[in-house]
Amino acid sequence: MVSEHDSISERRRMMESAFVRRFGGAPTVWTRAPGRVDLMGSHTDYNEGFVLTMSIDRDTWIAARPRTTGRVAIYSMNLEGGSVFPLDNIDHDDTHPWTNYVRGVAKILSDLGYELTGFDGMVHSTVPFGSGLSSSAAIEMATAVMFRRLGDFNLDPVSMALVGQRAENDFVGMNCGILDQYSSALGQEATAILLDCRHLNHQTASIPPGVAVVICDTKAHRELTGSEYGERRAQCEEGVHILQQFYPDISALRDVSSEQLSAHAESLPPVVERRCRFIIQENQRVLDLARALSENDRPRMGRLMSESFAGARDLYEIVVPEMEAMMDAISAAPGFIGGRGAGAGFGGCLVALVDAARTDEFIASASESYPQKTGLRPDIYPVRAAAGAGNLDF
Ligand code: GLA
Repeated sequence: MVSEHDSISERRRMMESAFVRRFGGAPTVWTRAPGRVDLMGSHTDYNEGFVLTMSIDRDTWIAARPRTTGRVAIYSMNLEGGSVFPLDNIDHDDTHPWTNYVRGVAKILSDLGYELTGFDGMVHSTVPFGSGLSSSAAIEMATAVMFRRLGDFNLDPVSMALVGQRAENDFVGMNCGILDQYSSALGQEATAILLDCRHLNHQTASIPPGVAVVICDTKAHRELTGSEYGERRAQCEEGVHILQQFYPDISALRDVSSEQLSAHAESLPPVVERRCRFIIQENQRVLDLARALSENDRPRMGRLMSESFAGARDLYEIVVPEMEAMMDAISAAPGFIGGRGAGAGFGGCLVALVDAARTDEFIASASESYPQKTGLRPDIYPVRAAAGAGNLDF
């Protein structure tokens, strides 16, 4: 059996060889940052709400060697090509769009006045792309840690997460909230965290022993995310704007109760009312799931996750047929406790809580039944909570 240590040294050797082939010479500095899975709290982050999130043992590594020329050369072992850019004039690379996450972080840090050191860098990721597990936040945070290390400046993890979010918002053009970058920067080993997206802090929320977190990747690609995501955000903002006429003190949906929404439901366009209702209920479910986990109340975990899935389907309308097929497959599988969509929706992954002793049976059953309905081969695997972004010291 391959131990974790073996696979770490194997990965390191593989990256070293790729680095030597590309740049000639060995890397001297290594950083890493994990992907994340949200156990509860879809689209609550940009409504200043709560999310129960977990950084996972799928991560992105960067192996690098500093350069004195004020340039960054960045290549990937997962994706074609790479690019070179000067730190004093950072532009987009439309031919290699993945490098824009690296460029964006460099641009924001440099705009904030940090002295950046250039480097040759090789990236390797075990976070699947486009499945809702935050591969982009992982490369952003690994890049930020790299600049921090090479430039020897202070950048606390919350500020680092904000830099990554600004890189997405202002440079890449994805109007995301703080969830992904915060989870990647501040996630903790062996525990989920309950993130407060308004105050940008968190507390730990441990997963009971005997409960496994299982990623159920539908392999349905998310294509609509960009425009649909922006539309959902705008609908939430419209709801807040209308409700402010009745409740001048509210500034986000986090401040609105279900009763307040019901009292003025007819003042909102029906679609806006549905979006707001989902967010308000989902936000409460985050707190309720944290409690259900702490009390090891499996039936309640299951109910809350099912309600989240139903709301995402009927009210927020971010569920596609493959996600429903996956939900059917996993709900019928042995050991299933609960499941719901992860990330932004529109395809990608579901996350399930499973009786740890039955994980293998669960995976075998769902992997067999899901393709019968979709013709797609899913990827279903357990994950563990891993540490947030940092240096890799070998
Ligand atoms: C994406 C965004 C996050 C968050 C989730 C949905 O992952 O990047 O900010 O809004 O969708 O919860």
